[in-house]
Amino acid sequence: MSVLSFLRIYAPPNAVLAAPGLLAVAALTIPDLSGRSRLVLAVVLAVIWGAYLLQLAATLLKRRAGDVRNRTPAIAIDVLAVLVPLAAFLLVGTPDWSLYCTVWLLKPLRDSTFFPVLGRVLANEARNLIGVTTLFGVVLFGVALAAYVIERDIQPEKFGSIPLAMWWAVVTLSTTGYGDAIPQSFAGRVLAGLVMMSGIGIFALWAGILATGFYQEVRRGDFVRNWQLVAAVPLFQKLGPAVLVEIVRALRPRMMPAGAVICRIGEPGDRMFFVVEGRVSVATPNPVELGPGAFFGEMALISGEPRMATVSAATAVSLLSLHSADFQMLCGSSPEIAEIIRKTAIERRGAVPTA
Ligand code: CMP
Repeated sequence: MSVLSFLRIYAPPNAVLAAPGLLAVAALTIPDLSGRSRLVLAVVLAVIWGAYLLQLAATLLKRRAGDVRNRTPAIAIDVLAVLVPLAAFLLVGTPDWSLYCTVWLLKPLRDSTFFPVLGRVLANEARNLIGVTTLFGVVLFGVALAAYVIERDIQPEKFGSIPLAMWWAVVTLSTTGYGDAIPQSFAGRVLAGLVMMSGIGIFALWAGILATGFYQEVRRGDFVRNWQLVAAVPLFQKLGPAVLVEIVRALRPRMMPAGAVICRIGEPGDRMFFVVEGRVSVATPNPVELGPGAFFGEMALISGEPRMATVSAATAVSLLSLHSADFQMLCGSSPEIAEIIRKTAIERRGAVPTA
């Protein structure tokens, strides 16, 4: 086993290791903890630190081994995870050195695919998010001003200045409602009701923008991946650009391990499949293997009858599945493809068309 592959063992539990580390840091802040418990927790932190040191070595070796990917953020996080606790231990001393282990909060971000997506969503939706944030600021200031004017004489200690009233406005607008400042006048209470409702609206806008942004980003990722997969199926090269876009949207990628059953004889069929990579085995009396570019499962869609044969993955296989409604759309838009599929189905059935 090479040094690199040995060290790689320590890379996956990145985030998992951070969790006990952070729990140990939190536990060490409990004042009446026994000396023995403190020692055990310190050992936990030392072990995790050791694992992170090994991971840093692995990251640096990978870089030297010519890893072309830009790993600068990962390296920065690995370096900080080792250096910050070490420097704190050497320079700060007990008991506060353990607090610096909270730098491990960065570890779960290291290999996450979520944060790059979040970054793209925030960048794409920046204009809308800034718009809603500006609205929030305007409403916040306006509400604080109104609360100050209405309540300043009744409760000067809570609403005696705009900054004081702003605290109430933030707590009410976010519908948190600590209850430390409550309007006493009728006008103040009407204002509070309006603020709560507008708060809900503003947060709904934020949530809506982010949810739409995430949905579009995920769809875009799926589209790009499907587009590459569709390019591997020669049948689709007959399609015009408009239909191709529709088909790329409709197709669903599926990975099946070797031996997995994809469809079973006698079952109703609601989709057909295109082989992108790998091979499938059709369990007919003379078993047939289908490879990249081939399709199967079309017979049930055309005839409406149950599956004619069991089809399983002969090797690990990458497929694209097409639902029956989208299959009808494909046949409607491309008579040429519909004819190829229909002829293949007839050949496979070994019968002559009746119509
Ligand atoms: P379907 O009947 O929907 O589900 C099983 C599929 O196996 C079938 O559609 C065909 O796509 C495929 N199939 C059946 N017989 C053969 C054959 N002789 N050669 C290749 N594929 C077949």
